[in-house]
Amino acid sequence: MAFISSSHLSISIFLIFFLFSIPHFSAETPSPHYLKLPLLHKNPNPPTPSEALSADNRRLSTLFSALRHHHPKLPVTSAASFGSGQYLVSLHLGTPPQRVSLIADTGSDLTWVSCSACRRRCSPRATSFFPRHSVSFQPYHCYDSACGLVPHPKKAARCNHTRLHSTCRYEYSYSDGSTTNGFFSRETTTFNTSAATLLKFQRFSFGCGFWNSGPSVSGPSINGVLGLGRGPISFSSQLGREFGHKFSYCLMDYSLSPPPTSYLLIGGGGSANGAVPKAKFSYTPLLKNPLSPTFYYIGIESVIINDVKLRISPSVWAIDEFGNGGTVLDSGTTLTFLAEPAYRRILAVFERLVKLPRPAEPTVGFDLCLNVSGSALPSLPQLSFQLGGDSVFSPPPRNYFIDTSDGVKCLALQPVTSVAGFSVIGNLMQQGYTFEFDMDRSRLGFTRHGCTVP
Ligand SMILES: *[C@@H]1O[C@H](CO)[C@@H](O)[C@H](O)[C@H]1NC(C)=O
Ligand SMILES: *[C@@H]1O[C@H](CO)[C@@H](O)[C@H](O)[C@H]1NC(C)=O
Ligand SMILES: *[C@@H]1O[C@H](CO)[C@@H](O)[C@H](O)[C@H]1NC(C)=O
Repeated sequence: MAFISSSHLSISIFLIFFLFSIPHFSAETPSPHYLKLPLLHKNPNPPTPSEALSADNRRLSTLFSALRHHHPKLPVTSAASFGSGQYLVSLHLGTPPQRVSLIADTGSDLTWVSCSACRRRCSPRATSFFPRHSVSFQPYHCYDSACGLVPHPKKAARCNHTRLHSTCRYEYSYSDGSTTNGFFSRETTTFNTSAATLLKFQRFSFGCGFWNSGPSVSGPSINGVLGLGRGPISFSSQLGREFGHKFSYCLMDYSLSPPPTSYLLIGGGGSANGAVPKAKFSYTPLLKNPLSPTFYYIGIESVIINDVKLRISPSVWAIDEFGNGGTVLDSGTTLTFLAEPAYRRILAVFERLVKLPRPAEPTVGFDLCLNVSGSALPSLPQLSFQLGGDSVFSPPPRNYFIDTSDGVKCLALQPVTSVAGFSVIGNLMQQGYTFEFDMDRSRLGFTRHGCTVP
């Protein structure tokens, strides 16, 4: 899921300092060095490829057209796809704690939860957060400097001077037509630590979404989004002030049965908890795009297939002066989207190298599909990305070939056709790797180790 950047969301250092410099933690024992949250796949059945594709495409095409029409003064909206292939984290909000399940999204900053104003005899079917059942819930006042951190389409109307207690309204629009609208608020969030003690983070800022509509908010087991983006209001940035500006995760292969559990680690990182020795990591710099401060950009230098480097101009991967282009890592997008010239070349090389028969019928939405029913272990070309910092990402073929039907595998890459677009490394491509986002050192670490750490 990708958040659209905006120039008017630039925040002064003073404001960030003012907001988040107060220590907000209380624990029964000294704070641990990291927080560990289980990451679960939304549904034990993998999404059908066409579901994944339509959700991603709907999101990306709208996102790109929005960029094209409004650039460089972009409206602040977030573009999320909730269709399929998502990873969820549960959070305990409020006093006493209420459990909510949120989509883990490195492509957006705001964490928001679907809220209900219900006070008594609330429907047990409701999957919302109930602020009236919490004694620690506190909406921000519209005059509060924190209120300036969240988008609202009508800035002037946000603070109604005729009313004394005007709460901070926000509004997010998603490219699939969904919107969330509510109050930017503070709440206590409680975590179980590995030492089985409870840890409370007392001033977690999030959106309490009272008016939500569209496909993104209609899922029965999804209560909102956990923003893990690079901006100051993201979950990882807020908690990073306590645990260090670092987080890591491993997205397990959800086609495995039984579905494995993996973890989102805030702070510490895969190496600091002793799970993965530092030496096992490869590192690539995290790049900044001032026009999209939310995203984690990495630099692709070249693409290698079976040890042969493809002839793709480096400009294909560059971020241009208008902030277009580049490559982002997004846990909220399923498939991988590559700039069209690179995609075409990769496709051509795959078509030439793969000797397997093609299925009788084409598969809608995919350019290269193979009939693998005749071979138990089909040999597929090795795709590798040479990244900045002299590291190489060589995922196994199951990260870029998906089963679309019995005995049929398709290349799970898509072209980015819009000039205002950017390449996206989706969550399928990230499967089975531990990724460590280290903001202090501005680098991304990745390794095949550490995914099955208990
Ligand atoms: C402010 O609130 C008053 C009273 O609720 C309402 O009549 C008015 O339309 C509001 N103004 C704006 C700009 O929203
Ligand atoms: C902590 O763990 C216990 C036991 O697994 C569970 O019952 C409780 O709901 C958890 N609480 C939070 C806040 O995670
Ligand atoms: C794949 O090939 C086998 C035989 O080689 C054939 O029976 C089957 O129908 C093919 N499947 C598709 C989807 O084309």
